[in-house]
Amino acid sequence: MADELNLYSARHYDSDERLYDAFTEETGIEVNILEGDSDQLIERIQREGVASQLTSCLPLTQAACGARKRKSIFQSVESDVLNERLPESMRHPDGLWFGFSQRARAIYYNRDNVDPSQITSYEDLADPQFEGKVCIRSSNNIYNQSLLAAMIEHHGEEGAEEWAQGVVNNMARAPEGGDTDQILGVASGECDIAVANHYYYVRLLKSDDDADREAARKVGIIFPNQDDRGTHVNVGGAGVVEGAPNRENAVRFLEYLASDTAQEIFASGNNEFPVVEGIKKDPVLESWGNFKTDDVNISVLGENNPEAIRIFDRVGWR
Ligand SMILES: [Fe+2]
Repeated sequence: MADELNLYSARHYDSDERLYDAFTEETGIEVNILEGDSDQLIERIQREGVASQLTSCLPLTQAACGARKRKSIFQSVESDVLNERLPESMRHPDGLWFGFSQRARAIYYNRDNVDPSQITSYEDLADPQFEGKVCIRSSNNIYNQSLLAAMIEHHGEEGAEEWAQGVVNNMARAPEGGDTDQILGVASGECDIAVANHYYYVRLLKSDDDADREAARKVGIIFPNQDDRGTHVNVGGAGVVEGAPNRENAVRFLEYLASDTAQEIFASGNNEFPVVEGIKKDPVLESWGNFKTDDVNISVLGENNPEAIRIFDRVGWR
């Protein structure tokens, strides 16, 4: 019993296996993994509660750690290792959860049809000059919820709603598919502009399939809002569940996620941005140089998440 850790994970990347294996090798602690989408996992934790032998740790995306739900599932962790290794913006003020990797929610443009100097911010996505030209996935996706939660933080609820309405007005098609489909939509000319996390683009650039690489070459990437708050990032985060039976192992796992080994796996496995200084990035990411990221604290995005969902509903962003 002592040497195990039960891990609820809403991530779905093959490289995470390497992450868990390396942890077991280092510590002798076996990791039992339960995968599912964030809502399912949270529901299950709430339903089974402390009685379950399963709860310990939960790598999630930030919005799933929303205030409403978060309070009831995570407990506070105080760790010198985490305080030292992680930037402040990646630590919840009460230690309820921590961010371990970053994915930039970037903008993509068709190199033939769009002058990239015309689109430098998320706000530009709502500019009427791009009517009928924007591809972006549905609002039930956590990445867009998190982006809108950031807009609420920066523009207030009304400003964020106006923006969301503007984006809906500019949509080239009703939202369909995942992030990769939005980038491919730009390549095929169905839209001129799209929004997607950076690693989907990197995957196409590095694909074994000629057609993928060909498509990616037609598309350029923009890191928005470099002149003000910086580009919005999705965070890969984790916390220790309230009442976790293997608390010590769970804390150890969090500390492990901040180690060089784990940070390098994030960087090489899924082309994510490490959050610890000095970790070598993937060469493609390296070639983009440094860019400014929006360092709004991860807890704020969780708190604004329910309002973001209501705004999406009101403006008809499916
Ligand atoms: Fe993803």
